[in-house]
Amino acid sequence: MPGGLLLGDEAPNFEADTTVGRIRFHDFLGDSWGILFSHPRDFTPVCTTELGRAAKLAPEFAKRNVKMIALSVDSVQDHLAWSKDINAYNGDEPTEKLPYPIIDDHKRDLAIKLGMLDPDEQDGQGMPLTARVVFIFGPDKKLKLSILYPATTGRNFDEILRVVDSLQLTAYKKVATPVDWKHGDSVMVVPTISEEEAKKLFPKGVFTKELPSGKKYLRYTPQP
Ligand code: BEZ
Repeated sequence: MPGGLLLGDEAPNFEADTTVGRIRFHDFLGDSWGILFSHPRDFTPVCTTELGRAAKLAPEFAKRNVKMIALSVDSVQDHLAWSKDINAYNGDEPTEKLPYPIIDDHKRDLAIKLGMLDPDEQDGQGMPLTARVVFIFGPDKKLKLSILYPATTGRNFDEILRVVDSLQLTAYKKVATPVDWKHGDSVMVVPTISEEEAKKLFPKGVFTKELPSGKKYLRYTPQP
């Protein structure tokens, strides 16, 4: 895939037409976290379920200070017409505004720049469609996490919320979140912290699991 973003890269400050008018990406993000997620095509089944779920979860993203924005290789006109179907799928009034804008990338400029195109998934004219990409940016506008799914596999937006919780916690505390972690579960003390430092940093206590290696790296502490 040409183009693309790697962890730590700054989000490009692109200008684009969206369902809420023309935006400049950095101005759109402001000081918030941001999630930019692409889908293959408007008026397709899996995409409708995904964008419907994203709309339902919008208040949860807002609570976490995360701005949401979607993108596909369709026009604003199509996005607006399709929004009515998404609302109907959600059981909402068709004319309701979706709680996030959708970017018009019918020329594929952004999809190419951001490495979002899936060469195996094409429209009737043989033009590639956008894959199901998720980019999560921090308030510094740097890429903190990316997810890439093919057109045939819908994403789990609860998982995206879960990773936002992990990213936001670990951005400010010297911890990492273990397998299947969810908000409120115990977390791991990162390996670079000494035992002495860990005692000071985590007054709720540190539990170290004994291991056959004798190494003391499996250290849990309640979520700070
Ligand atoms: C869908 O959203 O259902 C879809 C879109 C493109 C290819 C396959 C499935």
